[in-house]
Amino acid sequence: MISTSALTTFFIALFTILSLVASAPTPAPRDVFSPPVLYPGKGTVWKMGHTYNVTWDLSNAPVNITNSNGMVVLVKNHRMIDLEHPLAAGFDIRVARHPITVPKNLKPGNDYQILVFGDSGNTGELFTITE
Ligand SMILES: *[C@@H]1O[C@H](CO)[C@@H](O)[C@H](O)[C@H]1NC(C)=O
Ligand SMILES: *[C@@H]1O[C@H](CO)[C@@H](O)[C@H](O)[C@H]1NC(C)=O
Repeated sequence: MISTSALTTFFIALFTILSLVASAPTPAPRDVFSPPVLYPGKGTVWKMGHTYNVTWDLSNAPVNITNSNGMVVLVKNHRMIDLEHPLAAGFDIRVARHPITVPKNLKPGNDYQILVFGDSGNTGELFTITE
């Protein structure tokens, strides 16, 4: 049987811990930016060998981005394709578009996505690549 005073002590301790957690300073805003892909999106059809501008949304980009080096990787069936040879790399992520050329040796499919990396990656919607 737990005494009332033990319970009271317990709740006071619990309350103290909770209020400490609640009043803990919020972490300083990080300058991490993972750009949301705008294009290609749902309904987009790309042809192999053609060049397109991948675009992303900069409206929530922090003022100072830790890593402003962008990279564009093709994803098929939720797997990154050939990460060692991204479609584009080393461009400035603070410019909201970058041209890429669709490789010719792909399998046509409607399960492609574009992954744009800033500090971390953001995958766009599924789209189609045809010959
Ligand atoms: C990509 O965007 C640039 C800048 O707006 C434009 O000059 C270029 O023609 C575009 N390329 C394609 C393939 O749409
Ligand atoms: C961004 O970096 C500049 C130069 O280092 C600095 O003066 C400024 O305060 C920073 N801004 C933010 C929002 O961190």
